[in-house]
Amino acid sequence: MQAAGAIGVFDSGVGGLSVLHHIRQTLPDERLIYVADSGHVPYGDKSPAFIEARALAITRFLISQGAEAIVIACNTATAAAAHTLRVKFNKMPILAMEPAVKPAIAATQSRVVGVLATVGTLQSARFAALLEKYGGWRVKIETQGCPGLVEQVERGELHSARTRELIVRYTAPLLRKGADTLILGCTHYPFLAPLIRDVVGEDIKLIDTGAAVARHLMHRVKAELPPRVSGGGSEAFFTSGDAEQASLIMSMLWGKKVTVERLPNDYL
Ligand code: DGL
Repeated sequence: MQAAGAIGVFDSGVGGLSVLHHIRQTLPDERLIYVADSGHVPYGDKSPAFIEARALAITRFLISQGAEAIVIACNTATAAAAHTLRVKFNKMPILAMEPAVKPAIAATQSRVVGVLATVGTLQSARFAALLEKYGGWRVKIETQGCPGLVEQVERGELHSARTRELIVRYTAPLLRKGADTLILGCTHYPFLAPLIRDVVGEDIKLIDTGAAVARHLMHRVKAELPPRVSGGGSEAFFTSGDAEQASLIMSMLWGKKVTVERLPNDYL
């Protein structure tokens, strides 16, 4: 019997697992396949052309494994590659992430919103277009690139002194400018939310897009994909980096022991 169709999810590394958690909760019966492009992390300092090539290779791999829909669980890869993936694979749902500016505008009372994201996301044309779209809302949007934070999550350092130091460095300028709402504009950052909360205090709102993307995916699965197999829920994990190291970190972030396989050479 052919395996049921799957949902393919990828990120530059382990950050997309923050989105996969929401997808698992929202779609308990789906077969989920996750690719961490750990051999090339971080994407934040890579060229858009490089990221686009990686996104294409990983999407082809996911389709070879039975994926019927793709979730780009990475803001930086969305900025660099969502358009191309949607053109090339125009028969399948391609879901993507972008910093949650609209919900943050709805949440702010100080009328200053801070965006924490990778330099790649903040420099992208897609992000400029997003700012332009909400330019007339009389809310100031202040941005802060966060080099090094993705790497801390990749190492599993969710509470270390070094991670705290980086969070203090990146949040302080936004708070000084009056932000009362911070957008976690990179899928690695929700794993740092407890530490960010500890640094910025209880009164600052933290906004992340994972749950909204999972809900959107559920609607598209129902509307566009063949009927699902109930009870078929499972997860498979792949990496372009070191499989043993990825198994350790991903088990910690996923909350149970998982075995991560190395991507076949054709997709590295
Ligand atoms: N999780 C990716 C994002 O959402 C991190 C990108 C990177 O590797 O720099 O932007």
